[in-house]
Amino acid sequence: METAKRLEGVGEYYFSQKLREIEAINKAGKNVINLGIGSPDMPPHPDVIKTLYEEALKPNQHGYQNYKGNIVLRKAIAQWYKKWYHVILNADTEVLPLIGSKEGIMHICMTYINEGTLVLIPNPGYPTYKSAATIAGANVQSYSLKEENNWFPDFEEIEQIVNKSKSLPFGEVWRGCLMFVNYPHMPTGQLPTLDLFVELVTFAKKHNILICHDNPYSFILTEKPMSMLAVDGAKDVVIELNSLSKSHNMAGWRVGILSGNKERIDEVIRFKSNMDSGMFLPIQLAAAKALELGQDWFDEINQVYVKRRKKVFELLHLLECSFNKMQAGLFVWAKIPENFMDSYELSDKILNEANVFITPGGIFGDAGDNYIRVSLCSPEERINEAIQRIKDDISLPEVK
Ligand SMILES: Cc1ncc(COP(=O)(O)O)c(C=O)c1O
Repeated sequence: METAKRLEGVGEYYFSQKLREIEAINKAGKNVINLGIGSPDMPPHPDVIKTLYEEALKPNQHGYQNYKGNIVLRKAIAQWYKKWYHVILNADTEVLPLIGSKEGIMHICMTYINEGTLVLIPNPGYPTYKSAATIAGANVQSYSLKEENNWFPDFEEIEQIVNKSKSLPFGEVWRGCLMFVNYPHMPTGQLPTLDLFVELVTFAKKHNILICHDNPYSFILTEKPMSMLAVDGAKDVVIELNSLSKSHNMAGWRVGILSGNKERIDEVIRFKSNMDSGMFLPIQLAAAKALELGQDWFDEINQVYVKRRKKVFELLHLLECSFNKMQAGLFVWAKIPENFMDSYELSDKILNEANVFITPGGIFGDAGDNYIRVSLCSPEERINEAIQRIKDDISLPEVK
């Protein structure tokens, strides 16, 4: 049996391959310190786990669930958006719980993309935007984010891409455009500004673009969380993904959120309701509990990340990398020194010689080729150990 054409150009997810490679190295007796993936290592709040446990004990909580999500969770999501982002959402019609926001990206692509629909993705950016859009048959074009432009989009460049895609032979109809945007940005850690969000909404209105704003990092190492939906009139052109994976240490639970106007939510439900049969009710009720957590919760987890980040800065200094200290999210993004050809060379060297894994920035697009990304999801002792190994085992090559 042949694999489907739609998988052409889509390989296995980078981390799925890499984790196998690391497992093989570990089986050979090594103990790799994995500073790659952004899966929080701390547990959710005890009340969240207690809710899951108590609800799961009840005999009547185990059936298929409503495709729109339980009303308790939808109300908790609407409350959460109001409290933290000052965005008013109708709990009945404008929110949709997702089984993870990664899955949500696929649902959105399947809902809006026809063969040849223009999809704009950030370079560097989260690799799933490209693979999901490719699988759905899109004309995927990347827009570049550059350090000298604070990793913000260059609107002139994007306008050119959009105009080019609109100039079709006579009689052909433009198939529209979906644009993925993500601030705080992964992998660069760049924070958004309200001006940037306003500019994006204005641009989307001018060109009739649907923006999907992916917002899983707004509580991690930020002063205050921001939502693109807070911009006046944003719901006309923006849908927003959110997630409990990072902000509530619930990555394995698979709880995501889609917010937007009723029409968009109904459109995505048309696809999604044919794909899954709802989320386990005790998980939904526990997620609702998590969304009630206050500032103390975020302060507590961020204090840990601040300490770890200091250690990561130390590690990056050892590798002679340069970086901005004002980064949000679960990683530190840093430029590699010139004595390496690219980030893959540096990442391989550290893995092979010191048994420490750091993600090469090139996996996020070629604009990341000269950068590496270090995760904050390992305890300080583990980062210290990585520092020691790098001190002991790595000597940096001469500048080429
Ligand atoms: C930018 C970005 N979007 C989405 C996701 C997916 O998160 P979730 O666990 O909600 O699927 C990740 C996870 O690493 C991410 O970095």
